[in-house]
Amino acid sequence: MASPTNRWRDTPDRYGLVSRLLHWLTAAQVTLLFAVLLAWKGVGESPVTLFLAKIGPHGSLGAMLLVTTLLRAIWAYRQRHHRPPRPEGWAGVVARCVHLAFYALLILIPAMAILRQYGRGGPLIFYGKELMPEAERHIAWMVAPADLLHSTLAWLLLGLIAGHVAMALAHRLWLKDGILARMLGNPSPQQDT
Ligand code: HEM
Ligand code: HEM
Repeated sequence: MASPTNRWRDTPDRYGLVSRLLHWLTAAQVTLLFAVLLAWKGVGESPVTLFLAKIGPHGSLGAMLLVTTLLRAIWAYRQRHHRPPRPEGWAGVVARCVHLAFYALLILIPAMAILRQYGRGGPLIFYGKELMPEAERHIAWMVAPADLLHSTLAWLLLGLIAGHVAMALAHRLWLKDGILARMLGNPSPQQDT
């Protein structure tokens, strides 16, 4: 059994408490962010969409995702020598590329949006608290990247997440290996890779 200190860290047969907490926190934040967006697109203004937007304001959730992802990247780097191994072959290469893309997109998408907000002098509000006041400015190079890419990269992220969740379920229900278990914290005695 893992010692109390080891429970926090990763081991080759499962992700530790910190990695799992950060992973599921990311999943919850991303789910809420897209649920709010899709609900607004589908239903428009209604008591449900207003409630969702209140618990998950777009800019605040996006900023939290940036912080969570930066913490996660630092932790993943520190744990790099004892994390569960990737599957062998092309499946492992694809998984690695998708995971790296998640980190890159979850940093780039909100960072570009915050830069645009600054560049056009918009306020940055975190759950009602003004972190950056409104100002009179327009800095074109700060605004352009998000205007061009924010929305496109964000929908690409959603597509990759759909594939990632489908693969996690396929591992569990079809391949019946321990891949999902190691992110849930209960590694199965079966072979992982
Ligand atoms: C990981 C974090 C984020 C994700 C996944 C995300 C996702 C999205 C998506 C999918 C859209 C397009 C909505 C549509 O097609 O109607 C959008 C639009 C927008 N987002 Fe974000 N967002 C994030 C962070 C932020 C942050 C931090 C801010 C503000 C500081 C922000 C501000 C905006 C604005 C102003 C729009 C409308 C203009 C546009 O489409 O570029 N977002 N976001
Ligand atoms: C219900 C939703 C989700 C499920 C069932 C799920 C499942 C999993 C599983 C089983 C692993 C371990 C894969 C392995 O060890 O090879 C994993 C890892 C990972 N997941 Fe998810 N995931 C979900 C949502 C997300 C979301 C929303 C993101 C971010 C956009 C994400 C990003 C990652 C990353 C980056 C890893 C690699 C481990 C790390 O670097 O922390 N996952 N996920």
